Amino acid sequence: MCGIVAYIGPKDAVPILLEGLQRLEYRGYDSAGIAVGTKNGGIGHRKVKGRVADLAKALPARLKGGLGIGHTRWATHGEPSDENAHPHLDAAERIAVVHNGIIENADELKDTLKGRGVEFRSETDTEVLAHLIAAAVAQGGELEDAVRRALREVVGTYGIAVLDAERPDRIVVARNGSPIVLGIGEKEMFAASDVAALVRYTRQVVHLDDGELATIRADGFRTDTAKEPATLEVEPVHYDRAGFEHFLRKEIHEQPAAVGRALRGRLDERFHTARLGGLNLDAREIRGFRRVKVLGCGSAYYAGQIGAQLIEELARIPADAEPASEFRYRNPVVESDTLYIAVSQSGETYDTLAAVQELRRKGGRVLGIVNGVGSAIARECDGGVYLHAGPEVSVASTKSFTATAVVFALLAQHLGRLHDLSPADGRRITEGLKALPGQIAGILAEEERIAALAAEYVRYPGMLFIGRVRGYPVAREGAQKLKEVSYLHAEAYPASELKHGPLALVGPELPVIAVVPDDELLDKNLTTLGEVRARRGRVLMVGHRRTDAADDVLLVPANEPELDPILLSIPLQLFAYHAAVALGRDVDRPRNLAKSVTVE
Ligand code: G6P
Repeated sequence: MCGIVAYIGPKDAVPILLEGLQRLEYRGYDSAGIAVGTKNGGIGHRKVKGRVADLAKALPARLKGGLGIGHTRWATHGEPSDENAHPHLDAAERIAVVHNGIIENADELKDTLKGRGVEFRSETDTEVLAHLIAAAVAQGGELEDAVRRALREVVGTYGIAVLDAERPDRIVVARNGSPIVLGIGEKEMFAASDVAALVRYTRQVVHLDDGELATIRADGFRTDTAKEPATLEVEPVHYDRAGFEHFLRKEIHEQPAAVGRALRGRLDERFHTARLGGLNLDAREIRGFRRVKVLGCGSAYYAGQIGAQLIEELARIPADAEPASEFRYRNPVVESDTLYIAVSQSGETYDTLAAVQELRRKGGRVLGIVNGVGSAIARECDGGVYLHAGPEVSVASTKSFTATAVVFALLAQHLGRLHDLSPADGRRITEGLKALPGQIAGILAEEERIAALAAEYVRYPGMLFIGRVRGYPVAREGAQKLKEVSYLHAEAYPASELKHGPLALVGPELPVIAVVPDDELLDKNLTTLGEVRARRGRVLMVGHRRTDAADDVLLVPANEPELDPILLSIPLQLFAYHAAVALGRDVDRPRNLAKSVTVE
C-alpha cells in the first residue's frame, strides 16, 4: 500500500525516482509525486492524480537535483487528487515527506497544529508529519533528532522518507509497520518500500527494523543498530514483462517454473516425505499438535483453505483456514497444541502480520508460508517455508497462489509421514508433485480455447462459481480472480449449498462455473449441474471428463485427488485474465486494489 523511493548521489534523482515508482506501482496507483533538492538550496516538487506516467508527463524540465523522494499512492485519507498526493511539505517548503501507512491520531494532531496557526492543504494524515517535523527542525539540532522527536508524537504505522532543503547532504527514513529497505550503490544510496525499486541499481540492501530510523548520504548510511548488508538474489528481469502484454499473463505462464522452484530440494524420495529445513520444529513437537489453523487474506486465505484440507486429508489433523483479518479482531483463543500457519505472498499484509503478532504474544507457535524473503511476516514467525515463486508484480495473485498450495502439500506430506500416512501414500504424493509442472504446462497450452470461452461468457453480468469440498476453495479463488480483474460480479458457493439459496438466482442470465474433479463426489456434483441446467442456467465445468451435464467443459489432467485443486485452479486464472482483456480492463492494476495491503 503506497510505494516510497528515495535517491541521493551524483546523478539526477528525477529519472531514478520515476523508474523506481514505476516498479512500485503495484502498491498503489491513484496518484504520484516527487520532491527533489534543487541546486539553489530549495525543494522542487510535482504531484498529480493518476499514474506515474502522468507524473512523468507533468514534470517541468527544469526539475533536477541530486537528492529526492517519490511516492505512488493508494488512497486512505482523502480521495485521489493532486493536493492529497505525496510528497507533503510544510508551509515554508523546507521539509518534504513521503509516507506509507496510517497515522491514527492525525485528527488530534491536526487540531493541535491548527491551534498553532498551521494551515492544511490536503485531507491526508501524512501532512501532519511535514508540519511536525518542520516544527521540530525549527527548534534546532540534527534532522535525525527532529524526525525522531516528531515521530514520538505519532500513533500509527509508517514508512517515511524526509527531505530537508537545508540539509541537502542526506535523506532520513524511518519505519514502523511499513517496510523500508536501503540500497547501497557506488557513491550513491537508495531507499524504497520494496527491493523492486532497487534491483536495477544495486544488489546490496539493508532492511530496516520496526522502530528504526536511518540516514542515507551519497557515501553511505547510518542505522540505529549495526547492520550487515544482504545480497539480493532476484534478477531485474523478474520485474519486466518479458514480451508478455501483461504481468498477469506472464506470471500465469511462469507457474511450471515457480512450482519447480517451490519443490526443488524438498522431495525426500527415500522416506517418501518432504524436507523442510526452516520449520524449526522437531518430530516430537509436531506430533504434539492437535489442530492446525491457517491464516491469510485474499488469495492467500483461499490457498490456505486448500492447505488446511491437504493437512486434514494427509496428516489427519483437524485443520481449518480463516481470514487473518477476522481472526485478529475476535480476541482469539490461542492454544498451545495448535499449529498456526500464516500465509502471505508479500509477507507484509498488515492484518496477517497483526494476527501473527497477537499469536506470538499469547505464546502460539506460528509458521509462515511466505514469498517475500526477509519480509515482516517471515521475520515474525517461529519458522516457515519460503515459496520461491519469484517476485509477483500483477495485483492479482497467480503463481504465488499455486506455489502456496504446493508448499502446503509438502507440509501436509511431512506432517502426515510423522503420523499415519503410509510410505506408499507418501510416495504417491511425491510422484504427484513431480508431475505438476508438466501438467500445468499442458493446461497453459489450452489457452486459446479458454480465451474464446472467456470472451463469450463476458456477455453475462455475473457468474456463480461452485465446488464441493476440494473444489470449493478452487471455486472461491476462481471467483476472486474474475471479480478482481474483470469487475464482473462473481460469487462462490459450496455446490452442496446451492439449493439452500443461490439457486434462486440461476437462470439464462446467470451461468455457473463448476469445479468438478473426478473424485468420490463426482455423481453428487453432476446432479447439482442437472439442477442448474433444469433452470436454464448455462454451465461451464472445469474437470477431468467430458459430460452432457455441462454446456462447456475445460479439461485438466488428473493428478492425485489431494493435489487436483492445484491443477483445477489454472484454467480459471486464464479465464479471468481473458475475460478482463475482452472487457478492456487494466489487467495488472485493477481499480481500487493494491497488491500489498499494509494498512488495517
Ligand atoms: C491484496 C491483494 C490480493 C492478495 C492479498 C493478500 O488484497 O490484492 O491479491 O491475495 O492482498 O496478500 P499477501 O501478500 O498477504 O498474500
